[in-house]
Amino acid sequence: MIDTRPLSELDPELAALIEKDVTRQRSKIQLIASENFVSVAMMQASGSVLSNKYSEGYPGRRYYEGCQVVDEVENLARERAKSLFGAEHANVQAHSGSQANMGAYFGVLDPGDTILGMRLDQGGHLTHGSPVSFSGQLFNFVAYGVDPETEMIDMDEVRRLAHEHRPKMIIAGYSAYSRIIDWAQFRAIADEVDAIFLVDAAHIIGLIAGRAHPNPVPHADIVTATTHKALRGPRGGLVLCREEFAKPIDKGVFPFAQGGSINNQIAAKALAFELCARPDFEEYAHQIVRNAAVLADTMADEGMRIVSQKTENHMFLSDMRSIDEELTGKEAGILLDQMGITLNRNSIPFDPRSPFVTSGIRIGTPSVTTAGMRQEQMVTLGTLIVQILRQRNDEVAMKELGTRVHELADEFPGYPEDFPGHV
Ligand SMILES: Cc1ncc(COP(=O)(O)O)c(C=O)c1O
Repeated sequence: MIDTRPLSELDPELAALIEKDVTRQRSKIQLIASENFVSVAMMQASGSVLSNKYSEGYPGRRYYEGCQVVDEVENLARERAKSLFGAEHANVQAHSGSQANMGAYFGVLDPGDTILGMRLDQGGHLTHGSPVSFSGQLFNFVAYGVDPETEMIDMDEVRRLAHEHRPKMIIAGYSAYSRIIDWAQFRAIADEVDAIFLVDAAHIIGLIAGRAHPNPVPHADIVTATTHKALRGPRGGLVLCREEFAKPIDKGVFPFAQGGSINNQIAAKALAFELCARPDFEEYAHQIVRNAAVLADTMADEGMRIVSQKTENHMFLSDMRSIDEELTGKEAGILLDQMGITLNRNSIPFDPRSPFVTSGIRIGTPSVTTAGMRQEQMVTLGTLIVQILRQRNDEVAMKELGTRVHELADEFPGYPEDFPGHV
């Protein structure tokens, strides 16, 4: 029979490393826009025995026997996703956001086809045409960007490029963009050039689930997403689409992009969709947006330039040069992490520095909102971030600021000191 000892007994070295990261997650303020804290129930579903089952194919059409239960689990996840987002079809097998995109592109396009997406250095994702990703190597990507003045998507440029290049697909949805996207306008442009309209909602899907951001599903042909960001589910991908694309999308995911489904993750996705449908999630999603707005406004009041002036979702970019011409996103990110605030460096529009150095940082509020922080704490946090950057060469001031960061982190940990499911 299988060994039933807990991880701490079976592999203390690995258990200690997990424990070490629990401490890191609890002791620092987590502001990475694509991260969150999962619940104990999510860990249980994700770590369940469903991991044992091989089930290539889809419910009712498997290449293995014994799939009766995982069929039910996958159908539950699909039905919950469809109902949550009002979609005609859901594929819950994509292992990640990148594979959701891969499955979607190859499901409905041919290699070499033209896709119009956002510039990577202005908010687009690697899978939107980066030369180091399958996307840039196998498709012909054309890129639109933001208006240099407003730093918001230049819809005139989107329309002009769409008419000039006649793409087979237009993508909206980004990794680093803080404003609400006008789905209807994108849909209209896609219709003008007869393109498929795909929304990559990886970042905002949680806000959409909580009704804190307009839903692209009524406008888009295909919506791809991740389940591990504001949605607060397991690490994984999701594709929603119109019925007419259901078969090609399913084929694009399996067998084209990946093999056997990860049933434990599909179970955890089913749980995430259920939790998102409950009223407290709606309140959570709105609080994420309120927190981000207050944090950005506080930092702006302290003299930090916020890209496109404000945020309407869960994240924003800020320009380090507004604190000091010499300050880079890399230096700011490392310094803030040392001080107990974890976030990431990020290119800002028209950034003269490389993506490894950058002039900006990206800040997001899903994790701190899960930890219970509200507007009051956002004011404290915004002030602390700007003061740390301004006073980074003043040892005495930094010591005092570090203490204040740790007091705030200790008051709002993502997990209690000893939670069930702990290794
Ligand atoms: C817009 C967008 N699409 C796709 C992805 C890819 O997701 P994953 O890291 O799960 O492959 C991300 C990840 O952050 C993203 O921001």
